[in-house]
Amino acid sequence: MAKIHTTAKKHFILVGNWKMNPDTLEDAKKLFSALSRKAQKTTKVSVVIAPPYPFIGPLSGKSDVISIAAQDVSNEPRGAFTGGVSARQAKAVGATSTIIGHSERRKAGDTDEVIAQKTFEALDAGLRVILCVGEKERDQHAHYLRAIRDQILIVFSKIDKKKASWITIAYEPVWAIGKSYDTAPKPSDIHEMSIYIKKVISEVLGQKPGLKFQVLYGGSVNFENAQAILSDGAVDGLLVGRQSLDPDAFGNMIEYANNL
Ligand code: 13P
Repeated sequence: MAKIHTTAKKHFILVGNWKMNPDTLEDAKKLFSALSRKAQKTTKVSVVIAPPYPFIGPLSGKSDVISIAAQDVSNEPRGAFTGGVSARQAKAVGATSTIIGHSERRKAGDTDEVIAQKTFEALDAGLRVILCVGEKERDQHAHYLRAIRDQILIVFSKIDKKKASWITIAYEPVWAIGKSYDTAPKPSDIHEMSIYIKKVISEVLGQKPGLKFQVLYGGSVNFENAQAILSDGAVDGLLVGRQSLDPDAFGNMIEYANNL
């Protein structure tokens, strides 16, 4: 008998940002293989881990279910920039994507212009980009929406629009990063922001690609709030900090997203 209808299941992206952890390559390898075992059974979740630079090479190719992201790349292609790592170098050692515009990099001095240039360089090198945007605080008059809009539009004004689909936006409100897990916004607020972000992108790319654009949420996500955010937040996935260093917690998120 022919199927009457099928329910298309959503494909989620779960990104773990290890930030400046762990201390040793040995610990990084252990953590990565534990996460890889957890990700093994997934059929419809893309799992991405962003380790510190020195661990990218040693971890890349070690899992057929986890891809590797850099946590940042230079806004310059090459040259006399001591301490810098270019998008091409990150790609050469195995990264397939990079986070750009994380609030911890913005705090360290990355302006919107620098972030736009970094995005250009990453796309030019053939990396996918997880572009972080987020307001420092929420105000009664919703001026924070303007801040998000500006952060997005400046990047889209600098890139080749044909490469826009290589970008995923991660909405990370600065006030909810690294805090207690009940600080994360309610799924309804995340839902609203996701729609707003898609609307802003629709202005640049047109409605169809804008509405299809992938939006992640990040900021004090644990397994408990992840379930509500994945179910009701209208997002395509999560960008997880601390809890991506815990294979059980991150593994539970992967399993939950896989079964949604
Ligand atoms: P936490 O999940 O530790 O709050 O970090 C969020 C983050 O900054 C991910 O990029």
